[in-house]
This record gives sequence, structure tokens and C-alpha cells, in this order.
Amino acid sequence: MCGTAGMFVGCAAVSFCPRTLLAPKPAPVPEGDEYRSPFGSWYERSSVRVAPRRVLGDGDGARHFFSPDMVAVARHPLVERMPPGVFREVLLQHLYRYLDFTAKLEYLVVNRTVAGIAHGSVGVELPEEMRFDALKIYCDEAYHALFSADLARQARDLSGVAPVLPAEPFFLRRLREIQEGSPQEFRPLVELVFVIVSETLISATLADVPVDETVVPAVREVIRDHAVDEGRHHAYFASFLRILWGQLDERARDFTARVAPSLIDAFLRPDFDAVRAELRGYGLDADEAEQVVAEVYPDEVVREFFRTTAHQTVRYFHGLGVMGRPGVGEEFARLGLVDGAV
Ligand SMILES: [Fe+2]
Ligand SMILES: [Fe+2]
Repeated sequence: MCGTAGMFVGCAAVSFCPRTLLAPKPAPVPEGDEYRSPFGSWYERSSVRVAPRRVLGDGDGARHFFSPDMVAVARHPLVERMPPGVFREVLLQHLYRYLDFTAKLEYLVVNRTVAGIAHGSVGVELPEEMRFDALKIYCDEAYHALFSADLARQARDLSGVAPVLPAEPFFLRRLREIQEGSPQEFRPLVELVFVIVSETLISATLADVPVDETVVPAVREVIRDHAVDEGRHHAYFASFLRILWGQLDERARDFTARVAPSLIDAFLRPDFDAVRAELRGYGLDADEAEQVVAEVYPDEVVREFFRTTAHQTVRYFHGLGVMGRPGVGEEFARLGLVDGAV
């Protein structure tokens, strides 16, 4: 059930999960950190329980599959001068990548950790209600993976355009690299912190598409369904981070503080390789594809996106006092997550 048994390979030995090594004698939940469940109306409000299946209609083929304002390459002159069908396909391929990212994030990463929380094998002492709520998140995330795969299949069938996807999304590759570059004892902690940052970042990435009425309704509705659920997950994992922090020893805290900026970066950084490969597929040569990526994703634009999107997540880490640790504030600043050194 966790990364130490082989990244992204299921482990049957959950009861021997090495994550329990994180805290051999878990401390009780600190006073003042009592858990207030954000799932009180989950049975009446969660998408998996109450939202209808979102279905593409016959007229949707003529609408945008994703918001053009959010697909930077679609606005580049080298792309704009291509035949009209390419613009439509650029938006469609962006939707495919987004849905693939979402489904794999949910079932390959988040739900592995959430299952461990529910099972009690993540090495963190939690209130019973928090372990129970993890099962609700597990259901939510499974449904997010399902509606993402469902919508991708519908879009493919309606458009007749096959998805062009990387073998592995960028965030999975980076997460594995960060784990492999970490001391063995902290590798399970890397995945746990990645889930905390992704669950507190994702709601900020879901805000814009639902209001763009040029986008097909089913896409907007799926993203809105997801955003509503992720609001609850955000609150849960903000609490989880405080409780985890209270139970880590000084070395583990130091490691967590140092690895958090890279994990935020891994989640937020656009999949440049996938975009380059897509552009080559439209007939651009390697230099032209590189030019498009460099011009639509200049460093200052990427850093501004990071800083605004990660604002809340960075605040949570700031609240734990991580910025005062040697080199940590500088690392947050180096990756563009805060303005200047903290
Ligand atoms: Fe989700
Ligand atoms: Fe979530």
C-alpha cells in the first residue's frame, strides 16, 4: 500500500507497512488540534452520492473542450497559423492530459495514502473520526478517477480524435525521482507529504474553467463537481498536516520542510515534455516546439502561477515554522513559491 514496496506497485503486506516505522510510538493528537470533520453532510453533498453522470451532447462537438484562456500554447502565433482544426485539437488534447493527470493522481497516489490512513498503517495517530472520513475521501477520489476516464472516453468518441498522452505524467516521474533521491527511511514520508500538498493545492487549480461558458457543459460540470469535493479534502489535509507535524521527530520535520517545495513544484509544473511531443505531432520541428514552450511558459509566468496557486499551501507550512529552518525559506523562494527569501 505504499511507495517503499515499489513505487506505484500495490503491496499486499499492508499490515506490515513500513510507514509504521515513521512513528514507532505515536504521540497523541496535540491539544488544540482536535479534529472538526468537514464531512458532516457528505452523504447529501458529495459528487459520488448526488451528482448525475456528466454527459457530452451532440452539439458539443462545435464548442471548446477546454478554456482557451487556460491553454497557453493555443495562443502562440505558430499554433494560430495552423489549419483551423488544430486549435480545436490543442484544446481537446489539453483536456485529455488534464483528465489523465486527475485519474492517475487519484488512483495511483492519493487513494493509496488515503487507504493507509483509513487502515491505520501510515504511522500517524489519528482520531477515529479522521480515519473514518478517510474512507469518504477514498470514495470521492475513486469517483473522480471514474468521471475523468468516462469524460475522456466520451470526448474521444464524440470528436473522433484519439488522446496523445505521455506514458507517465510529469508529476509521477518527479515524485519517483524525489523519492529515489531521498533517504530510504523517509521515502514513505515523501508520498505522504505529496498527498498533503496535492490535496491542498488542487482546489486552487479547479476554479476557472467552470465559469467559461464557451466550454462544453459536461467539462465545466465535472470540474465543478470535483472542486466541491476537494474543498472538503483541503480542510481535512490541512488538519492532517498539523497532526502529522506534531508527531514527527526533529529529523523528520527537517526533511519534511526541505522536501515540501519540490513536491509542490512537482504537482504544479506543466508537463513540458508532453506539450513538446504534442506540438511535434502537429508538424512543428524540434526548434519550433521548443520556441513555443519557451515563449508561452517564460520563467516569470510559471513563477507567478506557482506563487498564486500555492499561496494557501505555503501558508500552512509557514504556520508550522518551517521557514525558519536553515535553507528552507530560500528553497521556497528559489522555486518561486514565495516572494524573495522568507
Ligand atoms: Fe479528487
Ligand atoms: Fe482530493
